[in-house]
Parts: sequence; C-alpha cells; structure tokens
Amino acid sequence: MLNFKGFNMTATAALQLISSREALRAALQEWRIKGLKIAFVPTMGNLHAGHLHLVEQALARADRVVVSIFVNPLQFGVGEDFDAYPRTLQADQQKLSNVLAQQESILFLPQISAMYLDGMKNSTRVEVPHLSDILCGASRAGHFVGVATIVTKLFNLVQPDVALFGEKDFQQVLIIKRMVQDLFMPLEIVSIPTVREADGLAMSSRNGYLSVEERARAPYLYQILSEARRQILDGNAHYIALEHHAAQLLAANGFIPDYIAIRNAKNLQPATAQDQNLVVLAAAKLGRTRLIDNLRVDKA
Ligand code: PAF
Repeated sequence: MLNFKGFNMTATAALQLISSREALRAALQEWRIKGLKIAFVPTMGNLHAGHLHLVEQALARADRVVVSIFVNPLQFGVGEDFDAYPRTLQADQQKLSNVLAQQESILFLPQISAMYLDGMKNSTRVEVPHLSDILCGASRAGHFVGVATIVTKLFNLVQPDVALFGEKDFQQVLIIKRMVQDLFMPLEIVSIPTVREADGLAMSSRNGYLSVEERARAPYLYQILSEARRQILDGNAHYIALEHHAAQLLAANGFIPDYIAIRNAKNLQPATAQDQNLVVLAAAKLGRTRLIDNLRVDKA
C-alpha cells in the first residue's frame, strides 16, 4: 500500500511517497531521532531488476531505505532524450512496494521546481573537473555536471549514511566518489556490479528504446567487451590496437561506436602495461539508442 505525502493521496503503508522537501525532512527526522541507519538509492525511474537489486543491497546495509525518482533535466543535453525518457511511476511504485514490503521506506518524487528553485540556468552547479570531460563527458557536454549537481542536492536533502549506485555507469560512480571525497560529504558510496539480461546485455532503462532487431544485436556490445577482457587477461597489452579492433567489430555489427577504451580503473587514464586494475568501457549507438557498458579487468 502507498502513502503519498504532498500529493494528496492517503493510505497507510511501508512505502511513503513524498514530493516536498519539507515532508521529506520531517519524515527523515523521525528516523534520525531513533538513530536509524539510512541508505539511499537515487534513480530516474523506469525501474528494472538492476535498480531493484540496488534497493535490496540498500536494505541489507541499513535500517531504512530512501529511493528517489527524478528525471533530472540538467544532465540531458540539447537533442537528447529528456522528453522521451520513460516515466512509469505507477509500475515503479508497485515494484518498490514489493521489494520494500517488510520495511518502512520512502519514495521521494520531487518536481523540477522543487530541485531547481530559480530554474536551471541560474542554479549553483557542482563540477568534478577532468573526470567529467572524458569518455561519456566528451560526447555529452555538461552531462556529469548535471549528475554531480543533482546528486549533491539529493544528498543534502536525504543526508544518507550510505548511497548505492550501479557499476554500469562506471564513470558516474567514480565522479560521485571523487565529489564526496573532495567536498567532505559524510556518507559512504557503494557501487554494485551490473545486472545483466540472460544474453549479457546490461540492464538499462534505455534498452526499451531498442527495436526487436536492435535488441537481438545489442548483446554484441557485451561480447566485444568480454573478448577484449579475455585478450588482456591472456597478456595482450597492445591496448590501442585492441580498442581499434573492438571499435571495428562494433561498426561491422551495425553500431556507431562513440568510444571503446581500456583505462586504469581508479582514474580512467589510458591504461599502461604496468596497471593491474583496468576497466574496458564502451559507448555506442544502435539506431537511436545510446548504449554504455563496461567490464573490470583485474590482472592480479
Ligand atoms: O544514474 C542515474 O540514474 C542518474 O544519473 C542519477 C544518479 C539518478 C542522477 O540523476
């Protein structure tokens, strides 16, 4: 059952739906007075098994869980899919109610005006330099400033003890960890391994954009990453050649590669033969859908 504070719906239940910052603060205050540990899972909704796994992991790490659903306009560029981004609130509520049935929890659903008080143009922004400008940041100018800004706002409102993010967005997780460290934010960031479909495709809200034919091709991205990973583990340290080869394979299979990159997993710098902890990251368009994925490669 659902209890929607701030949206004029009444009910009693484990999952409270809250839309205003004030109601959120009041509800969280009750938990804090009791000394409860709070875990936070920020999302943009259209929840799939990957999100629900984050929520389960949050439950395992804390006494109470807050999930937010907010399609953040500041992290979408001109011509990107902000308007088309799937908004599936009812289904999302139901999924969360099931996962969180045994626990008093909060689903925070702010309006844009509640998060950007004077519009987006004049909003204070948070920037993690360099890490935000490479890979996805190079082709999506301003994207990670939008992410860092909204995540900071949400952290300030929820003040969680721990926040959980999926490793599918590997660069996003590194940026958030760096921001938390640099700004002395008092919480722990936990990254959770990517949840995949049976054929290897990383779960993503954007997979729903794929046509039947594109969906059949999409797992090829994971297969190419897996092959690059296998080669590295077999001792191939010709990383640039591996990247070129992988990009060619993607293109030959109908993708438009944005990048495929073998990087140091700690700082996303191009990997050297001496680096032990690597990550192979890729972004590519399949039709109108931009897919991203990555695989960790730990040599030792
Ligand atoms: O990963 C996402 O869904 C979003 O980038 C996040 C972290 C919820 C910020 O809007």
